[in-house]
Amino acid sequence: MEKQEIRTFGRRHGKKLSIRKNLLMENILPKICPNESESNDILEIGFGAGEHVRELAQEYPNKIIIGAEPFVNGVAALLSAICDDNNEIRPEYKNIRIFPDDVRLILNQNKFKFSTIWILHPDPWPKARHEKRRLLAAEFLNLLGSNLKANGQIIIGTDHWEYYDWITEQVKNTNLIICNSKIETIETRYQKKNMAHTTETKYIILTHK
Ligand SMILES: C[S@@+](CC[C@H](N)C(=O)[O-])C[C@H]1O[C@@H](n2cnc3c(N)ncnc32)[C@H](O)[C@@H]1O
Repeated sequence: MEKQEIRTFGRRHGKKLSIRKNLLMENILPKICPNESESNDILEIGFGAGEHVRELAQEYPNKIIIGAEPFVNGVAALLSAICDDNNEIRPEYKNIRIFPDDVRLILNQNKFKFSTIWILHPDPWPKARHEKRRLLAAEFLNLLGSNLKANGQIIIGTDHWEYYDWITEQVKNTNLIICNSKIETIETRYQKKNMAHTTETKYIILTHK
């Protein structure tokens, strides 16, 4: 990153990885880095353990899906799920690419044009003193816009309603508009974990003005 970006994610490492996961991190991850010469259609930012990335890969077998996630254990979980017992990528997941770091590192290069960008349950950073860590500030939304094809869509889902309202305020200071907010709830690990003590997930779909 050229300028010092404020960190928007929590921890980078969780519990120690298994021998198999370490092997996949060493041998498979470098082979499935995003490559700007491919037609990269779909980006998911902060994929957690990657369940939704895998769904996208199966739903759109002819499209390349890039997932970005700086949490090492999440990256390892996705690698483990897309590889078979011989540690080879399963045929249905050959269209997945993984960027194991802060997504701004690739977005700032402006080399990609996505038709869809997904952000499901971005960290809400609820304490006032952490507000600056919120990823979906106006500047970042404009960065997403510059990496979005004409007529492309940015789909954001959060069950943190205060963050939802904050994001809709941020959108007013961008080159984007809200074109829809009604889609069926998408189940992710975070969404299921929080269902018991939070509200339903709200969505915002953005496109160019
Ligand atoms: C609350 S979790 C949600 C994970 C997943 N989307 C889900 O719904 O289960 C938010 C994720 O966003 C990731 N994240 C935060 N800032 C990011 C950034 N700048 N680039 C990529 N991922 C980021 C975090 O590491 C974390 O895994």
